[in-house]
Amino acid sequence: MAIKTSTRPDSGPDRTVLVIYGTRPEAIKMAPVVRELAASPFFRPVVAVTGQHRSMLDQVNNLFGIVPDVDLDVLQQGQTLAGVTTRSLGGLEAAITEIQPHIVIVQGDTTTTFTGALAAFYLGVPVAHLEAGLRTNDPTSPFPEEINRRLTTQLADLHLAPTPTSRDNLLAEGVKPDTVLVVGNTVIDSLLWVVKEPVPKDDPLLAELERNASGDRPVLLVTAHRRESWGEPMRNIGKALAQLATERPDLLIVFPIHRNPTVRGAIMPAVSGLTNVVVSDPADYTAFAHLMSRATIVLTDSGGVQEEAPSLGKPVLVMRDNTERPEGVDAGTVALVGTDPRRIVDGVGRLLDEPAAYAAMAEAVNPYGDGGAARRSVAALAHYFGLGPPVDEFVPRFRPPVGPATIGVPRQARTAVGRSASRASTGATDDHQPVQVNQIHPERT
Ligand code: UD1
Ligand code: UDP
Repeated sequence: MAIKTSTRPDSGPDRTVLVIYGTRPEAIKMAPVVRELAASPFFRPVVAVTGQHRSMLDQVNNLFGIVPDVDLDVLQQGQTLAGVTTRSLGGLEAAITEIQPHIVIVQGDTTTTFTGALAAFYLGVPVAHLEAGLRTNDPTSPFPEEINRRLTTQLADLHLAPTPTSRDNLLAEGVKPDTVLVVGNTVIDSLLWVVKEPVPKDDPLLAELERNASGDRPVLLVTAHRRESWGEPMRNIGKALAQLATERPDLLIVFPIHRNPTVRGAIMPAVSGLTNVVVSDPADYTAFAHLMSRATIVLTDSGGVQEEAPSLGKPVLVMRDNTERPEGVDAGTVALVGTDPRRIVDGVGRLLDEPAAYAAMAEAVNPYGDGGAARRSVAALAHYFGLGPPVDEFVPRFRPPVGPATIGVPRQARTAVGRSASRASTGATDDHQPVQVNQIHPERT
C-alpha cells in the first residue's frame, strides 16, 4: 500500500516537511522517516526525488510503497558531478518555491543531499540533515562525499547524527551543541524491517544461491562503486576477484553490480567467464538483505553495507583506505583492505582459512542503530518546532540487534562449482527477466 505523503488533508497546524533524496542509499535511509512523518500528528511529508538514480531508486520506493510527489528525473548516463548539481539545484529550487515547506530534510552526502540543502538555504527554508557528522577529514576520499557532507553541515539548522562519534565531529567543528542530536542510523530501521519480509521467490540471485550455494559453501558478497576508485583501483578490485575465484574454486563470488557503466567497464573484463563469479544487475533491497544474511564475508566499498552487514553478524572487508564509519572498525567487525589486490586476496583468504579470525569479526558488535532512529528523528523535528519534548539520544548497544541470520532456502546437495554456475541464470533486468552469468544490462533512460 502506498504511503500517503502530500495527499494527507492539510489539517491546519501540520508542518510540511519536504523530504529530498535521489539515490538508492538515501531512499533506504529516508523511507523509515517518511513512514514516521506520515504517522505523526504534527507533520505532512512531501517527497521530492531528484532521480539522480533511476531504477536503483525506484526499486526502493516501490518496496516501501513511497510515491514521490515530485520527481525531477535528472539521471543521465555517465552524468558529471556538475551536471547532476545544476539539474538538481534548479529543479529543487522550483519544487521548494512551489511547496513552501516549513523545513527540508536531506540525508547523507550525495549531490542530491548538498543541492537540496543549498536550494533550501537560498530560499530561507530551514534544513535538517540526517546522518550528519560523518568525516574522514580527507577531501578526496570519499570523493565528493566528504565535501558534500561538510557543505551540508554549513547549511543545516538541525543535525541528526547517527552515532556519538559523528556528534563529536560536528561539535569539534563548532556546530552548536543544541542543534545536534544522536539518533542512530535509519539504515538499521530499514534493515530490521526488510529482513522480516518474505524471501523473494523469483529473485535470480537468490535462486542461484539456492542452486549452487546450499550447505556451507563459502559465499563472498561484493559491491563496489566509489568514484575515487574509478580507473586502476577499480580494475584492481576486478583482478583480486579473479584471483580469488581462480585460486578458490569452492568460493562462490556474488556481485550485484552498480549500474554505473564506469564501474562495470572496470570490473567485467577481469571476471567474465569465471564460472564461480556471479555478476548481476543490482539486487532488490529485500534480496540484498537476504544475500548479506547468506554471505560468509562481505567485501565492499559501500557506506550503507558497512553499517548493515555487522548487524547480520557478517565480517566486512572495506575496499578503501579510510572510512567515515570508524565505529565498525573499532568494534572489530569491519577491516580496511584498500584496493590493492594482494591485500584483498589476503584479507578474504585469512577469514576463510582461519576460523578464529573469522569468529572474531563475526561475533563483533553493531554500533549503528537500534531501529529507533526514524522515531527519534521525527521527535527531534517536533522538538525543533516546539511541538514535543526533548528527545532521548541513541546509545549504541554492543550486541548485534539482528543476530546471525540464514537465508531461508532449504539445504540441498552441493553442486559442483563449474557445472552449476556456468549454466545458471543470475541477473535481474529492469523487467526482472533472468540473464546469463556475467551478462548485465545498461540503464534504459
Ligand atoms: C552516487 C553518489 C554516492 C553514493 C552512490 C550510491 C554522488 C556524487 N554520488 O554515486 O555518494 O554513494 O550514489 O550508489 O552523489 N546509474 C544508472 N541507474 C541508476 C543509478 C546509476 O544507470 O539507477 C548509472 C548512470 O550511468 C549514472 C551513473 O550510474 O550516470 C552514476 O550515477 P551517480 O549518481 O552520478 O553516481 P554514483 O556512483 O551512483
Ligand atoms: N543494496 C541493494 N542492492 C544491491 C546492493 C546494495 O539494495 O545490489 C543496498 C544496501 O543494502 C545498502 C545500500 O544499497 O542499504 C547501499 O547503497 P550503495 O552501496 O549504492 O551506496 P552507499 O551506501 O555507499 O552510499
